[in-house]
Amino acid sequence: MGSLPIQQPAGMNRMRTVYDLPGLRESIGAWRREGRSIAFVPTMGNLHGGHLSLLDRARQIADRTVVSIFVNPIQFGLGEDYARYPSTLKEDSRLLSGRGLDLLFAPDLAQLYPGGVDTDTRVTVPDLSSILCGKFRPGHFSGVATVVTKLLINAQPDVVLFGEKDYQQYLVIRRLVADLCIPVEVIAMPIVREPDGLAMSSRNAYLSAAERQRAPMIYQALQNAADRLRHGERDYASIERAGVAALEKTGFRPEYFSVRRSEDLGEPRPADTKLSILTAAWLGVARLIDNVKVYLDPLPKG
Ligand code: PAF
Repeated sequence: MGSLPIQQPAGMNRMRTVYDLPGLRESIGAWRREGRSIAFVPTMGNLHGGHLSLLDRARQIADRTVVSIFVNPIQFGLGEDYARYPSTLKEDSRLLSGRGLDLLFAPDLAQLYPGGVDTDTRVTVPDLSSILCGKFRPGHFSGVATVVTKLLINAQPDVVLFGEKDYQQYLVIRRLVADLCIPVEVIAMPIVREPDGLAMSSRNAYLSAAERQRAPMIYQALQNAADRLRHGERDYASIERAGVAALEKTGFRPEYFSVRRSEDLGEPRPADTKLSILTAAWLGVARLIDNVKVYLDPLPKG
């Protein structure tokens, strides 16, 4: 398959698109031999401002940038939206080349799953993968961990960037990189929000106009919970119940609304100061996730 240079107006960089692993390794190997640093942003495409913020950061910190677009079947459960996940490679490609990307990797299924997807080798990060989203999407984080491992092994970037909207995913990947001794720095970038507070997500496209109006409530509920923590409340269960109730009142079907330690998503104790509030909730056919961090002053001693 090889690589196709994309036509670009004069003065812009020339993004290359490669569709297979040898093409990816060849391009990156050439940069490595020139001593260039490489930043990598894995995505499932249907790009929005959140993805572009990752690319912008990648361009600031490395000499060359690589984005992958691959809708990874094994991170979707039965009955989830794999089949209808929006595929917009042409538009994505235009956006990325206009934004200064150097290399787009857009493999098909056979490239990343040469042995098929049913009995292939999986990478699983224990514990972290079975709580919160992992409880409601069994196998999801193993699917993510597996494909990210394959991508990192082949791209061998210096830095890999993820968005904090998928905060649990970021922690899973940080753990797998540490446990498998993969020499890459994992960077998390802040959530990018619409003007009304809704976190940018490809799945926002599933919302009807009426649902879209109500959707920012997910962020408001998180902020209300954060305010209670900032005001000194430590009855986490009561804060969580109020979050669930607020979402239900707006027509969401919440899966969880949970106060956790930011570091490892463990259950917090009253003296913990680095907290995250995380939620997943359905609105119509869209499953939305969001989270906020609350870093508190340590309690006075004695
Ligand atoms: O966050 C995503 O888009 C995906 O989970 C990822 C990390 C690209 C793996 O398929």
